[in-house]
Amino acid sequence: MKIKRLMKWGTLALLLILFAWFQFAYWSSTNDCGRSIPAGAERMQAIKYCEYGAPDDVLKLEEVAKPVPNDNQVLVRVRAVSLRFYDGGMVEGGIGRLVFGLRKPKNTTPGSDFAGTVEAVGRNVTEFKPHDEVFGVRAGALAEYICVRADRAVVSKPANVTFEQAAAIPTALVALQGLRDTGQLKAGQKVLINGASGGVGTFTVQIAKAFGAEVTGVCSTKNLDLVRSIGADHVIDYRRDDFARDGRRYDVVFDLVGNRSLRDCRRALTPTGTLVLSGGGVSNGGSLVGPVGLILRGQALSRFVGHRLVVPTAQPGKENLAVLRELAESGRITPVIDRTYPLSAAAEAISHVEAGHTRGKVVITV
Ligand SMILES: NC(=O)c1ccc[n+]([C@@H]2O[C@H](COP(=O)([O-])OP(=O)(O)OC[C@H]3O[C@@H](n4cnc5c(N)ncnc54)[C@H](OP(=O)(O)O)[C@@H]3O)[C@@H](O)[C@H]2O)c1
Repeated sequence: MKIKRLMKWGTLALLLILFAWFQFAYWSSTNDCGRSIPAGAERMQAIKYCEYGAPDDVLKLEEVAKPVPNDNQVLVRVRAVSLRFYDGGMVEGGIGRLVFGLRKPKNTTPGSDFAGTVEAVGRNVTEFKPHDEVFGVRAGALAEYICVRADRAVVSKPANVTFEQAAAIPTALVALQGLRDTGQLKAGQKVLINGASGGVGTFTVQIAKAFGAEVTGVCSTKNLDLVRSIGADHVIDYRRDDFARDGRRYDVVFDLVGNRSLRDCRRALTPTGTLVLSGGGVSNGGSLVGPVGLILRGQALSRFVGHRLVVPTAQPGKENLAVLRELAESGRITPVIDRTYPLSAAAEAISHVEAGHTRGKVVITV
């Protein structure tokens, strides 16, 4: 009886603490939007959003203070930024509020994958000098200038690609990790890529080929030629055929869409094959709940079945960016650009990505 009462009051106290914490976190969630530009500061243009909402309503091209690099940073004049599938979700809020700020977005400039020219370097930076062409990953990239820590995710740009193409390269991080690390793909193995014509998919096809795999790409009719042209040995038109029911088996199935059940994906695997789950919402209009559920179920199930079920996450370190640079320099990956937009049309560009049918990458030129 006493234990029951203790449990009842304990649960109530826990709920009250959680409620109070939520209220505190919600109302203290704020951002830099109210701050004015310090007198004498140089100015630049950047895309900003102060509140969550539809990209068309909340994204504005604004004048803000130009950042000043500290001793360990480089100041980069941004030339191009490629969009990721989650940029729209970040602007809209949704479940992402738990990470990006409960009431207001903490980081008020979207975009992360950039390419540009070094304008100035901090005192401790020896790797870069002004005029060097670079690319990398830095939150808040949709601006004329950004400061990036020189020892983090920034490397020199391959000379044989444009700034637009270089800005697209970091998207390939998840393909690299999914195939090389979690998928453990080996030369001669068969790999199927669901979502082969999208931003990640076009890199995944090319990296799998670079690793010596026999590649099958799944896409819609209009993209069959594109997927063949970037090296796929076989293509499957998902509007006509079903990879889960045609009897073929693959050593690795790399899912970038999240629209098929675990059972369907596993049906296409050899008995010891690996399912790489990375589809975070393409076919769900950006909603992460369904595909995240699929990924969580996959991780739970992987303990009880012969198949390996793995989830890669993009690791934007220098080493991985350097591997991608080398693949681009040697011509083994060529970024595919769907469309480019000017900085002022960022909202339109994000809406295009959110529609879930891009052919390669959407890039904003700055
Ligand atoms: N884990 C990570 O760190 C990480 C990082 C980046 C991306 N990702 C994941 O990668 C996924 C793909 O991102 P993305 O940037 O490549 O997206 P994207 O550029 O928007 O590409 C979407 C692709 O999905 C295809 N597609 C749409 N509906 C389909 C369907 N019913 N069946 C088969 N294919 C369909 C489209 O092809 P068609 O136009 O031919 O229909 C399009 O090529 C995201 O959902 C995300 O979860 C994960």
